[in-house]
Amino acid sequence: MGAVLLNRLFFDFGGITMNAYKNIAVRAAERAGNFVAKAFANRDRIIAQSKGPNDYVSNIDKQAEEIIIDTIKYSYPDHAILAEESGQHGEGDTVWVIDPIDGTTNFLQGIPHFAISIAVKQKGKTLAAVVYDPIKDECFTASNGGGAQLNNTRIRVSEKKRLDNSLLATGFPFRGHQDLEEYLRYFETIFPLCVDMRRAGAASLDLAYVAAGRLDGFWEFGLSEWDTAAGILIIKEAGGFVGDIKGNPHQEKSKSILAATPGVFKHVMKSVKDL
Ligand code: IPD
Ligand code: CA
Ligand code: CA
Repeated sequence: MGAVLLNRLFFDFGGITMNAYKNIAVRAAERAGNFVAKAFANRDRIIAQSKGPNDYVSNIDKQAEEIIIDTIKYSYPDHAILAEESGQHGEGDTVWVIDPIDGTTNFLQGIPHFAISIAVKQKGKTLAAVVYDPIKDECFTASNGGGAQLNNTRIRVSEKKRLDNSLLATGFPFRGHQDLEEYLRYFETIFPLCVDMRRAGAASLDLAYVAAGRLDGFWEFGLSEWDTAAGILIIKEAGGFVGDIKGNPHQEKSKSILAATPGVFKHVMKSVKDL
């Protein structure tokens, strides 16, 4: 009886902490999102800079990242941060993984499809996540064991079990066209088996859309932790599967990601097993 009570108390405290992390992540994403949406509407304030082949960053990415970090540090000054534009801040068991604008190329081109992505990890396990699309005002959230939501309403992956009635999404290896040949071999194998393939340009939203049942699966090569950390928890909490393209467990350093409904995941994995 004592043990059950203790366990229950421990679980409740864990749940309260996770919810607090989620709330701060949402607050940070919404603050940054409002800032990014205003800049999107006043395009003369945007200054773009090249980071590498076909890879751009803007003053707005950097300022949005500062807004997110300030919001987190106000509540959790001792937590570590891994942010796309400014790198690692501090060390510790709890790390906030931030992509201030996922879909920068869309943002710079005036295409209204990008998001703020924030995940909270503790000892390598993701506890809370948010992917916020400030243009559509869509906030995808999840906490470990607490389900996934879109604007506070529960979401689940679609019921699709086969590929021939499934809509998938992907991302092209556009940065210096690394691994293009290998990518095209996978594309040639998967594309004829499904209804169609989207390339919308924001991996965090591709993942969130799978969680919400708008897409039935997503795969890409060469993503970084800040692109995927939040979306992975949201999909898992929505009942989806995540791995690398061959179906192995997904790790921070995995070269590829495959995220889908359980049935679609199995079929994609099978179709590419000999590549
Ligand atoms: C990129 C987007 C894009 C994906 C790239 C990512 P960024 O993120 O998610 O869809 O194909 O691989 O790096 O650079 O806009 O934050
Ligand atoms: Ca990104
Ligand atoms: Ca980014």
